[in-house]
Amino acid sequence: MNRITRMMMGIALLVCVSANALRAQDKCLSCHEATVGGQPVEMFKHDIHHAKGISCAGCHGGDSKTEEMDQAMNAKAGYIGVPKGDEISKACANCHANAAKMKSFGSNLPTNQFQNLQESVHGKLATNGKERIVQCTTCHNAHGIVAVRNASSPVFPLNIVKTCTKCHADAAFMRMYNPSLPVDQLDKYRTSVHGIRNAKGDAKVAQCASCHGSHDIRNAKDTKSKVYATNVPSTCAHCHSNAEYMKEYKIPTDQFDKFSKSVHGVALLTKHDLGAPACNSCHGNHAATPPGISSVSKVCGTCHALNADLFSASPHKKAFDDRKLPECETCHSNHEIIVATNKLLGVTSEAVCSRCHSEAQNAKGYAAAKAMRSLIDSLENNEKKASELVNEAEQKGMEISEAKYKLRDAHQARLESRTMVHAFNEGRFREVASKGLVVSATVSAEATDALDEYVFRRIGLGLATLAITILAISLYVYIRRIERRQAKGVQ
Ligand code: HEC
Ligand code: HEC
Ligand code: HEC
Ligand code: HEC
Ligand code: HEC
Ligand code: HEC
Ligand code: HEC
Ligand code: HEC
Ligand code: HEC
Ligand code: HEC
Ligand code: HEC
Repeated sequence: MNRITRMMMGIALLVCVSANALRAQDKCLSCHEATVGGQPVEMFKHDIHHAKGISCAGCHGGDSKTEEMDQAMNAKAGYIGVPKGDEISKACANCHANAAKMKSFGSNLPTNQFQNLQESVHGKLATNGKERIVQCTTCHNAHGIVAVRNASSPVFPLNIVKTCTKCHADAAFMRMYNPSLPVDQLDKYRTSVHGIRNAKGDAKVAQCASCHGSHDIRNAKDTKSKVYATNVPSTCAHCHSNAEYMKEYKIPTDQFDKFSKSVHGVALLTKHDLGAPACNSCHGNHAATPPGISSVSKVCGTCHALNADLFSASPHKKAFDDRKLPECETCHSNHEIIVATNKLLGVTSEAVCSRCHSEAQNAKGYAAAKAMRSLIDSLENNEKKASELVNEAEQKGMEISEAKYKLRDAHQARLESRTMVHAFNEGRFREVASKGLVVSATVSAEATDALDEYVFRRIGLGLATLAITILAISLYVYIRRIERRQAKGVQ
């Protein structure tokens, strides 16, 4: 045993012995046990504060060393009676917000609970205007407090759901505060994998406090909230990216890594685009899937409505349903969704279509995929060519604004055709693509005309300059000849 360990054990022993001594000296408890009895006394016997040698006076004040009731329960000795309203949390904060005091009991617990609670959504004033909405005892009780890791604690993961929902599932109570706040969290939670497993006694799945916090709970629109859109991924990743923690469940732990690199993750986490989905946009806040949505896979359509509508009317709808394939993830994946490019389309090895379509298998789709890819490639190339020609003409100072404006229609047609892929119908695709091809061709022609004119003007200018120069030289020669003749005549 080294010195430090021995010293630590010494301190522990000292704290233990002194706790025992203090417990024996608690005259509040001994008199109450003998005279009043009842809940506080019975509960207090297995209270963590009792174990630490803290007496009834720790919270109620008074002199715990005298057997005289009047002296013990005397305001002069600091007795506060039964604390009410905000007095309750203040009584707890006397120790729990005082690091030195906590150390004196041999505790290294954080001392931020009171401060955090005051700043949280629960620190707002209650409807009576006299006290805050919750006190420490709302979640921890007053007597019989145990360590939060103890299975009988009201904040233990299997009990916390009940502790929070005694208010949050009480419609009449919640209406007094915020009539628009839903009170269905518990009902929904119980339909999710988290809620189902929690009800069966799994303390490791997410419960109210794992997603919202405990003392620092905030409104979801508050940027400091653990469930504010840009904070959600790391809140979920706290467990879901922890391979050790998730080991027994045998599910992947790569969702966050993949998501943060995806087109959605980059939009949300890097560009702070709140229109992009966070984990809960697809998985729901409390339920397994958001309300009104039959499966996670359907959720894409809440934002990408056009793609989803086209898909539903496409031949793939039935084909995928029959094979129990998810609608969008089959081609785009779920967490790793990247920017869609033409490469996805067609019959090359990179194209998603070739996973199921070949000349031998589902051949009609194969032919369609090939044709569609060729069309969209032409669209892209022709748009690029038209755009280059327009730029060239512009640089040469030609008036080309109208053609440039039309170029937007070509771009729009390309965007539309990318969406139109989801009809999986060659005819409809060709219609949209053709629109774009016609526009590109028109713009190219106009830009080429402008460039031709430029060349024409340059040649014209050249010829004119040449003619003028020749004229000037002839004139000069002519004048010289006359001058010479005149000179000869004079002689
Ligand atoms: C000698 C016995 C005795 C001692 C010592 C004693 N009490 Fe009491 N206490 C009582 C009795 C009896 C009552 C109930 C009658 C009453 O309310 O006056 C009571 C009531 C209380 C109440 C409830 C008051 C209310 O308004 O409902 C609290 C709180 C309390 N005691 C705390 C303490 C604390 C803290 C100490 C030690 C500092 C302590 N008591 C010491 C006998 C005692
Ligand atoms: C950790 C702080 C704390 C300690 C220690 C504590 N109490 Fe309390 N007690 C409270 C609070 C807070 C309330 C009032 C709010 C409530 O009941 O939720 C209360 C209420 C009471 C009440 C009145 C309400 C009731 O439940 O009957 C009595 C009596 C009481 N305590 C006695 C005691 C006695 C006796 C002890 C010691 C054996 C003790 N308390 C130790 C915090 C404490
Ligand atoms: C809304 C419910 C709620 C309220 C109110 C609340 N707590 Fe907690 N408390 C919890 C939960 C849940 C935990 C479990 C730890 C966790 O999951 O972060 C906890 C943990 C603790 C711990 C263990 C150390 C820690 O910080 O994790 C202490 C000590 C504690 N609370 C004291 C207090 C005090 C003091 C107050 C009043 C100022 C208070 N609590 C108010 C829910 C609450
Ligand atoms: C006289 C000081 C004191 C007062 C007052 C006090 N506590 Fe404590 N509390 C402690 C100490 C010391 C511990 C043990 C800490 C440890 O084990 O590290 C503790 C432990 C706890 C724990 C268990 C933390 C854990 O280890 O999981 C909770 C919860 C708690 N207190 C809540 C309260 C509440 C609620 C109140 C007010 C009603 C209160 N305390 C009042 C000193 C106090
Ligand atoms: C004493 C009743 C009560 C308890 C217990 C309680 N809450 Fe609350 N909570 C409220 C009230 C009331 C509000 C609404 C405050 C407002 O908006 O004015 C609220 C607000 C919230 C909000 C913010 C909602 C929003 O977006 O506006 C969240 C999140 C929340 N509570 C979660 C929890 C969790 C998690 C627990 C358990 C650890 C819990 N609450 C325990 C009463 C309670
Ligand atoms: C898996 C994480 C998770 C769990 C578990 C969870 N919540 Fe939530 N909660 C969220 C998210 C995410 C939001 C919404 C954020 C938003 O609106 O953008 C939310 C919103 C809320 C709100 C605001 C009103 C609403 O319904 O939108 C309250 C109140 C709330 N939760 C309470 C609870 C309670 C009580 C529990 C336990 C029964 C709980 N939550 C469990 C993640 C969770
Ligand atoms: C406290 C840790 C924890 C947190 C925080 C957490 N989860 Fe979970 N989650 C789990 C565990 C454990 C499971 C159970 C795995 C299982 O049985 O498949 C689970 C299951 C799931 C499942 C079902 C997986 C399956 O089996 O198909 C989904 C989806 C899920 N979580 C999403 C989320 C999302 C989204 C968030 C954040 C809003 C989140 N979780 C936050 C621990 C957590
Ligand atoms: C764009 C929608 C979307 C987003 C955003 C999203 N998921 Fe998923 N997630 C899915 C789909 C779809 C599945 C497949 C499961 C199904 O079809 O039921 C899935 C499956 C899961 C599973 C089950 C195990 C697995 O990997 O297949 C977990 C756990 C999970 N997601 C957690 C998360 C977490 C954590 C985040 C945020 C970092 C997140 N998801 C973001 C759509 C999404
Ligand atoms: C909450 C709304 C929302 C949900 C739900 C959503 N997305 Fe997105 N998605 C977006 C936004 C916003 C962007 C654009 C991000 C950017 O580029 O800035 C995007 C981009 C994309 C892109 C890339 C588009 C491109 O131009 O290449 C694809 C593919 C995609 N999402 C597919 C899906 C699929 C599949 C699902 C379901 C599993 C889904 N999305 C769910 C909002 C959403
Ligand atoms: C059979 C494969 C396949 C399926 C199923 C599929 N997509 Fe696509 N998706 C593609 C291809 C291929 C492209 C790329 C087109 C291009 O850029 O050339 C694409 C492009 C996209 C884009 C970017 C273009 C745009 O419309 O903005 C989004 C968003 C998108 N898909 C969403 C979805 C959604 C939502 C679903 C489910 C309803 C879905 N996709 C189903 C193959 C598929
Ligand atoms: C997961 C497998 C799968 C993928 C990936 C896939 N398809 Fe299909 N596709 C099918 C099945 C199955 C059918 C139905 C064949 C049938 O009923 O004969 C089908 C039918 C079609 C049809 C209708 C053919 C007809 O019979 O009229 C077209 C067009 C089509 N697919 C195009 C595409 C394109 C384009 C892609 C790539 C963007 C693609 N498919 C990707 C499985 C797939």
